[in-house]
Amino acid sequence: MAFTYFFRDLQTLEMIIEHVLPVVKTRRFITIWSAGCAMGPEPYTIAIILRENMGQMIFRNVRIIATDIDISDQFGRVIQEGSYPYGDLKRIPEAIFSRYFSPDERVPGNYVIAEEIRRRVEFQRHDLLTLVPVRDHINLVVCKNVLLHFSEEERRSVLMMFYYALEGDGFLITEQTQKMPPELGERFLQVIPHAQVFRKVAS
Ligand SMILES: C[S@@+](CC[C@H](N)C(=O)[O-])C[C@H]1O[C@@H](n2cnc3c(N)ncnc32)[C@H](O)[C@@H]1O
Repeated sequence: MAFTYFFRDLQTLEMIIEHVLPVVKTRRFITIWSAGCAMGPEPYTIAIILRENMGQMIFRNVRIIATDIDISDQFGRVIQEGSYPYGDLKRIPEAIFSRYFSPDERVPGNYVIAEEIRRRVEFQRHDLLTLVPVRDHINLVVCKNVLLHFSEEERRSVLMMFYYALEGDGFLITEQTQKMPPELGERFLQVIPHAQVFRKVAS
């Protein structure tokens, strides 16, 4: 269930640069919730993509709250340390890899993510099915390859939780195969037809 990797579905995550960044880049703080983050590849990929497209000062305003039910109770430590075996990192483009990763002196064969990136990501253990958001006024929720494990009713309830947790003009990104339930069509506007990038429609 926790299968994932760095730079997974990059095409969808790059929509953040094209569609979300122009709206949020002038904000004092940019808050992103990576919901169902597994051991961190998704929130760290988002952080790297943002840093590649943002100046150092603005990037310091980014806060990525990475959450997972984490039944093994391991993810927090892994994400905090930001140290991964090379095999987990091999899909990262070479230029980006050399910019943001260095050999982990404590664990041979592992590479550690640059502190500048690590500082932007914080982990919280969280069960989406409690339907209690980690906070409100969120600018972007990324929830990929998680909702498919839930029943239709659970999926609707979780999407409504995201709706209320988002800023008035906040965004939601899911995986390509995850369609928005028709009854929530008035809550979330699909930004472009070929990607699951939605913008909240404030009521
Ligand atoms: C396949 S991984 C997806 C990781 C990442 N989002 C991606 O797309 O690469 C699914 C993750 O959802 C988490 N998950 C499953 N049920 C959950 C729940 N009720 N609340 C929070 N996370 C959950 C699992 O622990 C797992 O890490």
